[in-house]
Amino acid sequence: MTANELRSKYIEFFKSKNHVEISGQSLIPENDPSVLFTMAGMHPLVPYLLGEKHPAGTRLADYQKCIRTGDIEEVGDPSHLTCFEMLGNWSLGDYFKKESISFSYEFLTSPKWLALDPKKISVTVFAGDDNAPRDEEAAGYWKENGIPEDKIAYLPASDNWWAAGPTGPCGPDTEIFYWVGEGLPPVGSNKGTDSANWMEIWNNVFMQYNRVDEKTLLPLEKKNVDTGMGLERTNCILQGKTSVYLTEVFQPIIAKIEELAGYKYGTEEEKDKSVRIIADHCRASVFIIGDVRGISPSNVGAGYVLRRLIRRAVRHAMKLGIEKDFLAQISEVVIENFKNAYPELEQNSAKIKNELTAEENKFRDTLRKGENEFQKLLPNLMKNPKKIISGKVAYNLYETYGFPLELTQELGAENGFTVDVEGFKEAERKHQEASKSLDAGKAKGGLAEQSEITTKYHTATHLLQQALVNILGDQVAQKGSNINNERMRFDFTFERPMTPEEIKQVEDIVNEKIQEDLPVTMEIMSLENAKAEGARALFTNKYGEDVKVYTIGRDAKKDWFSKEVCGGPHVEHTGLIGKFKITKEQSSSAGVRRIRAVIE
Ligand code: ALA
Repeated sequence: MTANELRSKYIEFFKSKNHVEISGQSLIPENDPSVLFTMAGMHPLVPYLLGEKHPAGTRLADYQKCIRTGDIEEVGDPSHLTCFEMLGNWSLGDYFKKESISFSYEFLTSPKWLALDPKKISVTVFAGDDNAPRDEEAAGYWKENGIPEDKIAYLPASDNWWAAGPTGPCGPDTEIFYWVGEGLPPVGSNKGTDSANWMEIWNNVFMQYNRVDEKTLLPLEKKNVDTGMGLERTNCILQGKTSVYLTEVFQPIIAKIEELAGYKYGTEEEKDKSVRIIADHCRASVFIIGDVRGISPSNVGAGYVLRRLIRRAVRHAMKLGIEKDFLAQISEVVIENFKNAYPELEQNSAKIKNELTAEENKFRDTLRKGENEFQKLLPNLMKNPKKIISGKVAYNLYETYGFPLELTQELGAENGFTVDVEGFKEAERKHQEASKSLDAGKAKGGLAEQSEITTKYHTATHLLQQALVNILGDQVAQKGSNINNERMRFDFTFERPMTPEEIKQVEDIVNEKIQEDLPVTMEIMSLENAKAEGARALFTNKYGEDVKVYTIGRDAKKDWFSKEVCGGPHVEHTGLIGKFKITKEQSSSAGVRRIRAVIE
């Protein structure tokens, strides 16, 4: 079976169980500024999991491209990916644990479907704690399907509890693992006793509670099921392979890298790792740029994550001796491979190649500049008898010029220096603490080329949202926002066109707040506290996650105009924004209006 077949089979199976196939959504969340990318199949479904009626009914299935970059530096091992596909099925107040578990079991083991060996399956269920009881019910259904007691591990909330956000629907989950060790798993072996040989392939979340606040968990009236199966991993075990990179999902990409590098994958572990990083990051970058709401590399938000992915791929390509313009060449293979499942990739192929080439060249320039800076520093460094480059100097090269630590080490070594790596990490840690944010990709927002204009637009967006609420009322909720160097776009819920007077009033309020030159301040706090302070926030933060709260006003606690959970960055005071002008107000979709505005 191939990944393409697995995708189709999954959908076909759930259709046979009366599910409706819905389309996966953009990788760039439309109405959620608190996450940079769609990280799970359920993200686009949050409103429906919270009780809104879904137009397609109560049984849904899809495949969704996802990006998770929290551990970008760790990617490179045989199973982790920053870009992956999640196969998902949902029950919105329809079936619950019994059917969900038998659907999963049937799909995995039936000869008609995946025909996996039931002896190689183990599961985990929630062990129970003060919040909710041990999930004997789920365990019972697994046993009914034929999973023996010794293949069921009861694990705590850190493993078997899933929440869409700090408040809202949540519940115990049951995770399904497949044996990747030699032969058959021994008696007594399960995820709890032997973590290394069991690969997670599927997670079924039973959303049976509503978290009202930190202390209150109420049973949910409508119980939902949210499941996510990893496409690449399941495909990998179906083919009996030891790594996702050895499947046809990655092999054509790897073949192209081999050709460009004149290197055969499997020869040297260190180089193999570089090949995997290039393959993963290149695929992720193609998906991000080629998305229907595709973005370009930049120094803020999702654009910065994209920049890091591309730059890391270029660095590893250099290690393999690959010279210029390689990303565009690899992107052709990625597009060819995935265009059937994701037609937008082919539609955007010119854009993908242009962006990749431009960023690759820019980074190679950056590296040259960093090297010049290093040469300038050299006479001073030479005075140091110990021949150590301090962590601070190395970190400054990185922070100011984007010059990576390894390259400082390399250049240093050529001149007989070692780099204080611990000191570098310390400097990095301090910097990250200072700018702790929702996403690792945002943590290093302070690069020299920070785009000033988009920052101004970003702050203007907060002013606009509050002004709209003041004039139009509480039904105004952000549905999406998009900023580039020329304009901002803001989508919000409101059922009729705004009148010219209302537009003028909103514009006036924003300009008034700009003229008052209000300070913009940021504080990191738990999402619970942010909400208690009245901050606007959306639902997709992880439970217990710390968030950045941006306040616009004279006093962040007592006298403020706007307060939002947001990754930033923002201008330091509103006077920096300039004059704000609404250029258009139009319909975006049913019940959603769109404002375009510029600052002059
Ligand atoms: N939403 C669940 C997950 O991402 C299925 O694991």
